[in-house]
Amino acid sequence: MARHEHNNIQLDAEGRLRHFLSIEGLDRELLTRILDTAESFAALPGRPVKKVPALRGRVITNLFFETSTRTRTTFELAAKRLSADVLNFNVSTSATAKGETLLDTLRNIEAMHSEMFIVRHSQSGAAHFIARHAAPGVSVINAGDGRHAHPTQAMLDMFTIRRHKGDFTPLRVAIVGDVLHSRVARSQILALNTLGVTEVRVIGPHTLIPTEARTLGVHVYHDLDEGLREVDVVIMLRLQKERMDGALLPSEEEYFRLYGLTNERLERARPDAIVMHPGPMNRGVEMDSEVADGPRSVILQQVSYGIAVRMAVMSMCIQTHAESPA
Ligand code: CP
Repeated sequence: MARHEHNNIQLDAEGRLRHFLSIEGLDRELLTRILDTAESFAALPGRPVKKVPALRGRVITNLFFETSTRTRTTFELAAKRLSADVLNFNVSTSATAKGETLLDTLRNIEAMHSEMFIVRHSQSGAAHFIARHAAPGVSVINAGDGRHAHPTQAMLDMFTIRRHKGDFTPLRVAIVGDVLHSRVARSQILALNTLGVTEVRVIGPHTLIPTEARTLGVHVYHDLDEGLREVDVVIMLRLQKERMDGALLPSEEEYFRLYGLTNERLERARPDAIVMHPGPMNRGVEMDSEVADGPRSVILQQVSYGIAVRMAVMSMCIQTHAESPA
């Protein structure tokens, strides 16, 4: 392969994935390769032997400075399915609580020969910071940083959409709710546009849609019924109350009345539309339980597909530096 001229920290000199920090700067071919690689891992749960030896003996560290249910556990399971050894760094029981800096923590875990860090942090840019300071041969995967990005969540969402809809090209996708504070929405919008969907809509109150939304290549709606008309995919977002500085909403009841997804409202979407949510979900705030648990919901499939997608990203990153000249 020809050597690439690029300034994208995520890619090596050959244009292959070294870190996975953001969807930004990655092309359709690379995103499709992640989805195709995940497809090869998705069959493993149905097989008698559920592991592959791809990363046997390699050390992978989960470095989570913020709470998580789905992302941390599916990364751990994905690493174990690849036969890696997994370190789970727990901030509350670590020396971080005694004042150790992020870089000192990084150097100490690198000294244990960890070749990959899965990083979640409340500060936007934390994963990039670690990637810039990581030793040669060490990869960093962003598991969610502040409001900035959650690229593996976006890719498992793309995998779920492709599994249900096949081709991205004809699709209209609505992302509903607190787009302003959502790292997931930012990564989804980039991925959907890179994969070539017909239209991405964002729907929500003026206070929860960023003013620069249209520059992201989306159509903005403030009326849920109007925005849902004829869409193929509905992605609901959580109200990120922990990131809200002031009173951006009158009340949760009022929010549900205007933006909560019910079966009646879902009638506006196409008859075969699927409903997604990255989790954690607030029932009765973003959506009614009859939708969350209904036949169009693929919310738990998203979680399952997350294992295969994270296996794909980890194996692609670690293979990159394994194959690179020393
Ligand atoms: N979707 C998501 O990031 O969920 P967790 O916060 O539980 O990891």
